[in-house]
Amino acid sequence: SLPNDFLRALPKVELHMHIEGSLEPELMFRLAQRNHIELPYDSVEALRQAYDFSNLQSFLDLYYQGANVLQTEQDFFDLTWAYLQRCRQQNVAHVEIFFDPQTHTDRGIPLETVIHGLTRALEQGERQLGISHGLILCFLRHLSEEAALDTLEQAKPFRDKIIGIGLDSSELGHPPEKFERAFAAAREQGYKLVAHAGEEGPTEYIWQALERLKVQRIDHGVACLEDPALVTYLAEHQIPLTVCPNSNVRLRVFDTMADHNLKTLLDKDLKVTLNSDDPAYFGGYMLENYENVQEALNLSRAQWLQLSANAIDASFASDTRKAQLY
Ligand code: HPA
Ligand code: ZN
Repeated sequence: SLPNDFLRALPKVELHMHIEGSLEPELMFRLAQRNHIELPYDSVEALRQAYDFSNLQSFLDLYYQGANVLQTEQDFFDLTWAYLQRCRQQNVAHVEIFFDPQTHTDRGIPLETVIHGLTRALEQGERQLGISHGLILCFLRHLSEEAALDTLEQAKPFRDKIIGIGLDSSELGHPPEKFERAFAAAREQGYKLVAHAGEEGPTEYIWQALERLKVQRIDHGVACLEDPALVTYLAEHQIPLTVCPNSNVRLRVFDTMADHNLKTLLDKDLKVTLNSDDPAYFGGYMLENYENVQEALNLSRAQWLQLSANAIDASFASDTRKAQLY
């Protein structure tokens, strides 16, 4: 077994974390009160009790409802600052966080309110906590490609604040190919590209993300083992998979952590990274994911060091920053 405190001390890089999914129930209640919004729950405890999911959609319904309390630039700052405090406590030194602009602009919150709040916190985190960052704008795949293209257009004034474009929300029925033109447009603007694929969806969606959207990383991707040719491709090209163990168990992708396919992914030399996805909803941040994995799967020290190195390699950090992170 591992030395005491090994997992806590391990320098960490997080590449798959939706900032709206870091909204803890306590902060949700505080912001609801501050913004005079009524929540359909009597207490923090009642809200936490509702976090009992049967699949991705059952989670997304609560996640979008929760995001309604985010109204002002200060709200987005407070949300992001709280996440960065967790990062500091858990030795997370670099973060690339997702945000869902359409969740906010569709209810009348200006995009600049969202981006200014997030970036003010991220820049303060860099200065005061030494945590480097990237911001990844995700298109909501249950909405149209026209809406994605419109969002990309709205983001133009903030191009220098955003490192990449991603694709999230309801996977089944919304294949990556639906967004081929939007991702082509993003590529022309020089964004890095990622997409959720193979969380609940089929291996075909992972192929589409790679071949049609030309993404550099696959978010989740745990379905890949069903297609040996895909596994070979992912290994040969060392395409990073941003795997989220607690999320997969909470959303019933795997029945228990002991059933998770992480070890098989590692055995096949895939470039796996570990991440928290929506830490306020899925029972914890990076360290809680590491600890739950270790308890169920008992990885070796070498495997943990591999996972850490993979996350640095897979990040969009500069070579200078990567050298510091190793
Ligand atoms: N999958 C898809 N969309 C999401 C997720 C996820 O795990 N979390 C937040 N939006
Ligand atoms: Zn996700």
